[in-house]
Amino acid sequence: MTAQDNSTELESSIVQAIEAATNVAALEDVRVAALGKKGSISALLKTLGGMSNEQRQEKGPVFNQLRDRITQAIAERKQALEADALSAQLTNETQDMTLPVEADPLLSGRIHPVSQVMDELSAIFADMGFDVAEGPDIESDYYNFTALNVPEAHPARQMHDTFYFHPNAEGERLLLRTHTSPVQVRTMQAGGPPFRFIAPGRTYRCDSDQTHTPMFHQVEGLVVDESTHMGHLKWTLQAFLAAFFEIDNIAIRLRPSYFPFTEPSMEIDMQCRRDGNQLIVGEGDDWMEIGGSGMVHPTVLQHAGIDSEKYQGFAFGMGIDRLAMLKYGMPDLRAFFDADLRWLKHYGFVPLDVPSLSSGLSNKSLAGK
Ligand code: PHE
Repeated sequence: MTAQDNSTELESSIVQAIEAATNVAALEDVRVAALGKKGSISALLKTLGGMSNEQRQEKGPVFNQLRDRITQAIAERKQALEADALSAQLTNETQDMTLPVEADPLLSGRIHPVSQVMDELSAIFADMGFDVAEGPDIESDYYNFTALNVPEAHPARQMHDTFYFHPNAEGERLLLRTHTSPVQVRTMQAGGPPFRFIAPGRTYRCDSDQTHTPMFHQVEGLVVDESTHMGHLKWTLQAFLAAFFEIDNIAIRLRPSYFPFTEPSMEIDMQCRRDGNQLIVGEGDDWMEIGGSGMVHPTVLQHAGIDSEKYQGFAFGMGIDRLAMLKYGMPDLRAFFDADLRWLKHYGFVPLDVPSLSSGLSNKSLAGK
């Protein structure tokens, strides 16, 4: 057989193999078998070395063109195979746009009513120009008591109410804050008057029954400037409660009380009516206590480094859990912290329904589904 015949036959067998390759990997095998170092075409090209000059002049271009045609054929086949693979993948991965959307975590998860109420509080008070401040859950005796003018012998300091830690290396006994009032002093120390902020957060007392849990939530409020008086306190509380309970008007009663850090001090009662087991807020002539308040005691201002001759203001503290129970009708506080998914599905809020004054505070469009 002449080299010419040989190369023609070789070409047709390689072309057949190229066409028979159904994927890129198989095609690569064909390429290596033909054009690789030990491939058939490479072997053919090597025969040029043993030829006479005339023979080489004749066969050289023939073999080289053969190599070029095969290289080209492999490249074209590869492109075609890749295009086929891509369209097969696109067909396989087609999405049926008419299928209903599957429930994703954003829709099946729920916001806890306490978080929801904190967001509602923040939206309402932000609208009145209040900042939101924070402080640590683990507090020093100084911020929780001393700076708030709580005398050494005050009953609130006794082990009975307060969770204390073991003394640290310096002999100091830290504690879990029993109220959010320490945030008053911390925030005042960190800035300068005037102040207008709320501080929602966790608080702890050694107590547990249907309406008390060892961990609960409060929202502190503080306004300090040169002219704030009790009229402002009453208006603020009343405006907040009306907005929170989403009613036009609500009567409140400030009942004389005692807190070491305010003078005068008042308990906050709000108007309500009992209808069987239900409690209707903003109607009737019953009263429900929801927190404490008063004019900031000059000693507290002094502890915060503020001139108590020049500045004055009011403070209040309300139970967030209590507000949530009243607004959303949960009968037992302890269930708040049971982490029972059925409870959360029933009382929780859809994450996308972010409370706002313009779009609604408690839009429960999808809750319970
Ligand atoms: N810290 C008080 C409590 O926990 C509430 C309060 C706050 C009272 C601010 C007056 C002013 O009972």
